[in-house]
This record gives sequence, C-alpha cells and structure tokens, in this order.
Amino acid sequence: MPGPWRWWRRGRLATMSAEPGTPAWGWLPEGDLLTRGERIEWVGACASAEAALRSLGAAVHEAELHDLHGAVVTPGLIDAHTHLVYGGHRAREFELRLEGASYEEIARAGGGIRSTVAATRAATDEALFEAALARARTLLAGGVTAVEVKSGYGLSLEHEARCLRVARRLGDALPITVRTTSLAAHALPPEFDGQADDYIDAVCTWLPQWHAEGLIDAVDGFCERIAFTPAQIERVFDVARRLGLPVKLHAEQLSDSGGAALAARFRALSADHLEYLSDDGIAAMAAAGTVAMLLPGAYYYLRETKLPPVDALRAAGVPIAIATDHNPGSSPTLSLPLMLNMACTLFRLTPEEALAGATRHAARALGLEASHGQLRAGWRADFALWDVDHPNELAYRFGDPRCLGVVAGGQAIDTTAA
Ligand code: NIG
Ligand code: FE
Repeated sequence: MPGPWRWWRRGRLATMSAEPGTPAWGWLPEGDLLTRGERIEWVGACASAEAALRSLGAAVHEAELHDLHGAVVTPGLIDAHTHLVYGGHRAREFELRLEGASYEEIARAGGGIRSTVAATRAATDEALFEAALARARTLLAGGVTAVEVKSGYGLSLEHEARCLRVARRLGDALPITVRTTSLAAHALPPEFDGQADDYIDAVCTWLPQWHAEGLIDAVDGFCERIAFTPAQIERVFDVARRLGLPVKLHAEQLSDSGGAALAARFRALSADHLEYLSDDGIAAMAAAGTVAMLLPGAYYYLRETKLPPVDALRAAGVPIAIATDHNPGSSPTLSLPLMLNMACTLFRLTPEEALAGATRHAARALGLEASHGQLRAGWRADFALWDVDHPNELAYRFGDPRCLGVVAGGQAIDTTAA
C-alpha cells in the first residue's frame, strides 16, 4: 500500500538538489510538494501542483491539504555521526580541562572514554534507552529526521550489543531513520589493559555475532595514538568487508595516523574529524569517493587550533558533511543547526555548503544518498520547516532554534510530543 496522498502547499523550498541547472540551495521560492505515503512524488512550483497531481493519477479531493504558510522547507537534517547511547556524563572532566589537563592526558590517566564505559556498563537497558530517547527527541526538535548512532561505550560482546539494541529501539520509538554503527574499536577496555591486539581479536569474533542479530549497518574505529593503530583497524575492517558491511573511521583527529588513507582503501563511507589530514589522505579520499565528515563541535569543545584542510578538500572535490558528534566527552551538543553555524564560523564553509553537509552529503555518508537528504521525487518524504526568510539564516543564527516542525515519512510530527 503506497499510503495517502498529501499536498504540501505554499512553502519556500531549499531542495538541496544538485542536479545540473538547479539554482543555489535548489531554491524554489513558491514551491509545493506532493507526497504519497512515505515518499515524495513531485516537487515544483505552486502553480503547477494541481496539474502534477492529476498527471500522477490522483484526483484533487484525494489529497490531504497542508498549508506550509510560506515556511522555509529543507530536507530533514541528517546527523550522520553521533554517540547517542551512553550512561553518565563528564562535567567533571570539563572542569579538569579548564584547569589545564588535556583530553589526551585525561584519557591516558584512565578517564575520558573509559569513565563513560564504566557508567554505561553500570546502567540498565531501560536507563540507557530513556537517556538516548531524550537525546534523539532533542535532535528531532532541531529538524533531524535521520541519525547515525554508534556503540563504543560498552566495549564487550554483551555491553556493545545492549547499546546497539537500544539504538535500534530509537528507530521504533521515534519517526526517525536510525543507522547503527559498531564502534567497538573505540578504546581499550580495562580488562584488556596492555593487550590491544587481543582486544582487536575479540572484536573480530564479536562483529559477526552482532551482524547475525541484525544490529549493525556499518563498522567504525578510532585510529589514533590513544586508541588503535592502522594495522589494528585494518583487521577490523577486513572482518567488516567479509560481512559485507561498509566502514567509516575516526581519523586524524589528534594527529596524522594515516587513518583516512586506510579508510579510503576500504572504500569507507566517510572519514571523520580530519583536522590533521594530509594531502595524501585527501587524494585517497577523493579517489575512493569517501565523504569528509567534519565535526566542528568537537573542534570547538577541545579547543583544537588545527583546522581541517577545507580548501584542499574542496579543490579535490571531496564531499563535505557536518554532524554533531554528540558524545559526553568531546562534543556534548544536541543541536545540528548550531553545527551549521560553527562549520561556517570555525571552518569557513559557506552557509549553503554547511546545509548540504547536514543533508545531501550526510545522506551519502550513511549510504542513503538515493533516498534521503534532498527534496526530490522518489526520495523519502522527510523535511524540516523553519521560521526564517531564507535558508542562509540557518547558519547565520546560533543558539536560536527556528525549527517549526518536521515531516517524517510523509507525516507531520509534533516535535514537542514525539
Ligand atoms: O568522536 N574520538 C573519539 N571518540 C569521540 C569522543 C569520545 C569521548 O570522549 O567519549 C569523538 O570525539
Ligand atoms: Fe565521534
């Protein structure tokens, strides 16, 4: 059953389509959308909508009418890099960093990710779910209709699986597309102290089990001197390849470890962070079609000063995506619109590049480029409505939520009650 026809009238549409000949933003200042069930069937000028509906074989009275009252409409935002499932928080670590300790020092002293692992293992499934649900609701209220959720704070067969099951439940509880990622290769758990290779061996035996339970859509790792070496990550990626799962990588966040080039060799969906990315890494990503996932929240919060090489990424034609990287240590934000602003102020993206980064390119980073991230016939009917005059205001404002609501899978969602 394709579902009911809906006619969304009088919007100002930023379709974010990149079809040749489309204006900047895919801008359609007097636009309507026709949806049927979960899909967009037609996008175009208000004046042509009625004829389009008829030519699609529907009578006008069949369509449920929704007046958009001139709101700016964008594709539903896509947060394609989050660590949404965890216990506790790290406010004390924030204080320590203000007193002068570095992120790396705290991690080496057994704090950081490890302290969240302890809190996550101690939390019940229900507590993990409720906390993650509240976070996902906040994202939704900010215009997000698709989210990637990583594990990475369980670091054992059982606890990683619990976190992944919680992530899957989010997609059942909310009208949001959820893609889950195993980040078991995030940090070394205490029971494997000094035995990183043994831990990687264990992860390689766990991945097929999580995959068999349908818990993972992709495999990630943290390639860094405080985490895992390229050789260790490669072993994890080999298993992912055997299972037919796409990979992605936390790469070049604190140093140049050659992670992006490794990710590109495995045709990764994305390489993420990338402040210390080299020219070789850029060339490898460009050749492999790997998305550069920039995370201005973590850059800001860790007071990083080395900028990701945005000009060189642009010049090489690498698609740039933007995400919150929501996590309790390096980026405890739940506002993707705020990241649009930071991507411009900190990384010098244009407002249009930033929005493309949280829509079309974010979809690609999840392997969803043929169904999400654009207002386009055949794509999923996910869109966000904004109380602004023009989409450039989404990056211009900060800390000023302007999302009026979202339509997810063709249905208007009351984000205050979702
Ligand atoms: O994306 N870089 C590694 N992982 C997270 C931070 C994890 C944490 O500090 O809890 C990140 O920044
Ligand atoms: Fe991350």
